[in-house]
Amino acid sequence: SLPVPSVQEIVRNGNLQSIPERYIQENEESPIPVNLPDSELEIPVIDFSLLAKGDKDELKKLDFALKEWGFFHMINHGIREEVLHKMKEAVSSFFELPLEEKKKYAKQENETQGYGQSFVFSEHQKLEWADMLYLITSPPENRNSKFWPLSLPGFKEAMDEYSIEMQKIVEELNANFSVLMGLDRNGLKRLQGELNQGIKMNYYPVCPRPDLVLGAKPHSDATTFTLVQQDDDVTGLEIRHKDAWIPVKPMQNSFVVNVGDATEIQSNGMYKSIEHRVMTNKEKPRKSIVTFLFPDYEQEIGPLESMINDSHRPRMYRNIKFGEYIRELFARKMEGKALLDFV
Ligand code: SIN
Ligand code: FE2
Repeated sequence: SLPVPSVQEIVRNGNLQSIPERYIQENEESPIPVNLPDSELEIPVIDFSLLAKGDKDELKKLDFALKEWGFFHMINHGIREEVLHKMKEAVSSFFELPLEEKKKYAKQENETQGYGQSFVFSEHQKLEWADMLYLITSPPENRNSKFWPLSLPGFKEAMDEYSIEMQKIVEELNANFSVLMGLDRNGLKRLQGELNQGIKMNYYPVCPRPDLVLGAKPHSDATTFTLVQQDDDVTGLEIRHKDAWIPVKPMQNSFVVNVGDATEIQSNGMYKSIEHRVMTNKEKPRKSIVTFLFPDYEQEIGPLESMINDSHRPRMYRNIKFGEYIRELFARKMEGKALLDFV
């Protein structure tokens, strides 16, 4: 069974007269950004095909995007339309399954993979207005088939293809991040091996009172970086920028990319892992497909030598095993931006 109810089911059963107490967030800040010029209201756009060609100006733009925003739209990624389409269809058909069927893949306590809600740690905790399915895709030995809806036609094929296509983007981005952090293209890979990959599929149902709930509470990602495929026609993701919450408007054929805590640590604080949250709305459910890239749990991460300078950029974080970092985050309930407290 599920540790907490499916939100999709709560909404599907209709007659929602009032929002259940457990979903009402306290002290949420207004979604309206204040006093920012137009140039501060949209995340930067980076052309992947130019990066792949070795374009120096585009690399500079990437550096700016990572320093000033921590988030960017990535266009011209080269992933075949068909692969994206099949993946979106697979996600839709999963969430359309009857609850009884989805429950077969339920996430259990102390596991990260499976169907349910992201991170439930207590009876009293405020819950998010979302359901999700999280699956580790790489390395293959970390896959756990008991959470995979293998009887759903086309699902595994769509995931496998998507996962492989994403890996090409990951390699190129990782090479660019290496260069920006003073290494050669292969530097990060040599230091930390292949990144692990996990795919989280989110379903945010409509909500009669979007002002009271959150699809995702403010958090920063623990990852090296994250690639988000969001619906074309529903806005929901917001990032914290210059003390405001800035909506990330959908952009056709793009991925939203953000760097996570592991990169903030490796870059010695140069590239910030930015807090973000997800809002809901009354009209339309929203789906997103989130690909996480992160170091192996046994891997030690720390500021790269090339990013430390004793006179003007002293070391900001200690070295820590990535798995230890994750355990600490869970112990601290992952609220907001926890990183600076303990590394
Ligand atoms: C998240 O970062 O937690 C979700 C991103 C999204 O749904 O757009
Ligand atoms: Fe996130």
